[in-house]
Amino acid sequence: MTGATIWLTGLPSAGKTTIAYELAGRLRGEGHRVEVLDGDEIREFLSAGLGFGREDRHTNVQRIGFVAELLASNGVKVLVPVIAPYADSREAVRKRHGAEGTPYLEVHVATPVEVCAGRDVKGLYARQAAGEISGLTGVDDPYEEPESPDLRIESHTQTVRESAQALYALLTGRGLA
Ligand SMILES: Nc1ncnc2c1ncn2[C@@H]1O[C@H](COP(=O)(O)OP(=O)(O)OP(=O)(O)O)[C@@H](O)[C@H]1O
Ligand SMILES: [Mg+2]
Repeated sequence: MTGATIWLTGLPSAGKTTIAYELAGRLRGEGHRVEVLDGDEIREFLSAGLGFGREDRHTNVQRIGFVAELLASNGVKVLVPVIAPYADSREAVRKRHGAEGTPYLEVHVATPVEVCAGRDVKGLYARQAAGEISGLTGVDDPYEEPESPDLRIESHTQTVRESAQALYALLTGRGLA
């Protein structure tokens, strides 16, 4: 089967991880080989020691992109729910895939910051507001929105299932599912 990297970029609590696992379950059920490279897990091992400054965030995204391409070029559907706040970092990952001829799709989980802050799954928005942390993407750290993603998901206007379905339809349309 054809592999591909599907990168889900967006703010904290936008729904990236939730949508990725919903889609992963469906794809596995249909016989696809699937890996989810989740930001939090990656930072424990592959990117252990990296912080949240511009350079380290860039390095984190390049490392994940490298592993994703390796897997995808071997027939795996690689779902990457990782914030990836910088356009040039995402572009470098796209280019690496292009150079190898490996399919790459960029999905913007475009949940507005107010909705994300209301969900606040990890309590980060509250901690930032309380002055306990700084450098929160979309609040006091940059998030450069994708200008022309392959798909934009409005997670605040639909259910998780509907969001995953939209992504599934994108894969079908590209001959990847
Ligand atoms: N349509 C939707 N798609 C995805 N998540 C949704 C949707 N509607 C509501 N939610 C809820 O929003 C929350 C999203 O949390 P999730 O951990 O997936 O965000 P994330 O983007 O991975 O954040 P982080 O960058 O902090 O890891 C979950 O509690 C999920 O149930
Ligand atoms: Mg997540």
